[in-house]
Amino acid sequence: MAFLALRSILVLSLGLCSLAEYSIWNHTRGKDLDWWQKTVIYQIYPLSFMDSNGDGYGDIKGITMNIQHLKNLGVDAVWISPITKSPMRDFGYDVSSYVDIDPLFGTMEDFKALVAKLKELGIKLILDLVPNHTSDQHDWFKKSEANDPKYKDYYVWADPTFRPPSQNAFPPNNWTSAFGGSAWKYSTKRNQYYLHQFSEYQPDLNYRNENVTNEIKEVMKFWLDLGVNGFRMDAANHLVEKEGFPDEPVNLDSGVSDPNNYGYLKHIYTMNQPETFDVLADFRAMLDEYSHKTDNITRVMITESYTSTDEIMKQYGDQNRSIAHFPFNFNLLAELGDEADLFDLAINDWMSNLPQGAWPNWVLGNHDNRRVGSRYDPKMIDSLNMISLLLPGTAVTYYGEEIGMLDNMGITFNQTRDPIGIEAGPDNYLTVSRDPQRTPQQWNYQNFAGFTKGNETWLPVNPNYNIINVQDQTTLPMSHYNIYRQIVQLRKLPGVQKGDLEVSSIGSRVLAFKRSYDGEETGVVVAANFGEDILENINLAYVLDLYDKKLTVNITTPAATYKPGDIISSDDLSLNPMEGLVFTFQHSLASSRSLSVVLMFLSVFLVVRV
Ligand code: GLC
Repeated sequence: MAFLALRSILVLSLGLCSLAEYSIWNHTRGKDLDWWQKTVIYQIYPLSFMDSNGDGYGDIKGITMNIQHLKNLGVDAVWISPITKSPMRDFGYDVSSYVDIDPLFGTMEDFKALVAKLKELGIKLILDLVPNHTSDQHDWFKKSEANDPKYKDYYVWADPTFRPPSQNAFPPNNWTSAFGGSAWKYSTKRNQYYLHQFSEYQPDLNYRNENVTNEIKEVMKFWLDLGVNGFRMDAANHLVEKEGFPDEPVNLDSGVSDPNNYGYLKHIYTMNQPETFDVLADFRAMLDEYSHKTDNITRVMITESYTSTDEIMKQYGDQNRSIAHFPFNFNLLAELGDEADLFDLAINDWMSNLPQGAWPNWVLGNHDNRRVGSRYDPKMIDSLNMISLLLPGTAVTYYGEEIGMLDNMGITFNQTRDPIGIEAGPDNYLTVSRDPQRTPQQWNYQNFAGFTKGNETWLPVNPNYNIINVQDQTTLPMSHYNIYRQIVQLRKLPGVQKGDLEVSSIGSRVLAFKRSYDGEETGVVVAANFGEDILENINLAYVLDLYDKKLTVNITTPAATYKPGDIISSDDLSLNPMEGLVFTFQHSLASSRSLSVVLMFLSVFLVVRV
């Protein structure tokens, strides 16, 4: 530790202020890594992965038929977005039964066959669980609306407010839905409003009613008994609302002037309430108990929240109780504008706020955000995969990102399926719709990119499938697919699994980081040029602790300055525009760190002598 402090002072005094170092030991506590820490998690959006029956919608059999694709990529865990019964207003995130497979996706038998296939291939299965809300078509909601004594408090109900002068009925308060407009919908059946933090078809469950927590724990047990290895908890920070339902304050910093827009208010009473953490901790305890009572294989809980880093970090729990194995880190999902220093900041924001013993993770894409190649210059896709897959921690890949799929911005308003896009109307739908990043996986050159043998697809296939598809990319050595596979292989090195991190940027153009693990021979360095210019004479040893190390080029992006196997000196690197490189290096017998310790003692000795 003292050494780290000393080094920071040295670095500062040389004016190299952006270097940051993180010891991963603090996060592993010296323990062996568990399956969920070592793996890449591949997210399948099931409607869009593969359609086995020609109806134009992806299904479970389609996943089973193609799961070898994940194995080929070197991926050891899959997260599947909801496959349970749903009216599909929000494509599965509006659940009408938590324990039935939606017929669009197949049957329970199909699900069991998928579990068996995954087991055979050694791939862990994480299901999406939507605890915050159900569909308005869920039996619980229908009974709640009908004031059934058992279910009447399963949802968040409130009386209207009556405001002068008209004394007309208004919603209970000013809360807004993440999908726009009031978060309250009036039920004429019950003469009360129900809360919906997402669409009006997604009423919020009431976690102040213990029976609701118990119901969801039963649901978890149901799927665990079927062989599931954990859950991704949807909208985890929304579970409980402030009692008394006070108005939320206007967010004056947001620049949003439309009160119907979700950004208009500060959501201090609907998000991150202390009781929400209690419910999540309860879910986690249930998972741990299940593992202990069965086979001691960890059942993982990953939480999804779009909120501040401080609030997200609380979802790890503390010394007294564990909550999530990890909450998703969306720092790299932000629009970081192709600036290396902003990536540096985003990485440091996560690493420096990570509690002791907490495990990092990196999400580069998901079904709610623009694809990587559409958020950034497509030429950056491979470099961004290098970064997210080689930083310390679990990495999450959204289907299609392994081949650099792009958003399909050609979707017309009539083809729009996403409720957010529909709500925005024909003039604005494309700015907010999530459909462009949800189009079918591009498998090959056949009709509909090989996604279906039918005559239509639920969302239009991106016409660029002739250029971007799995079949083509498996044959091209420098394709996104093959570069992705190489990175995943390298990720298995102990230096990457458990190695410490040094990260730095050179202005807004170059991001560089080093991963190394004392006691292991091989370390890894990643360097990426985010700019349009050729950069020469870059001294990586100036920004990372590399001294005079020779670096061996291991993985390159296309049109790179070097080829794998080239040996370069860390103080004289060239990078083509938007080039990314992964190097390996060997620790000398006396590693740089021990060398530094020796130097430190020597300097102390000299000072004492003087
Ligand atoms: C999560 C899901 C998103 C869904 C929302 C409401 O953010 O990722 O797709 O619309 O929750 O369930």
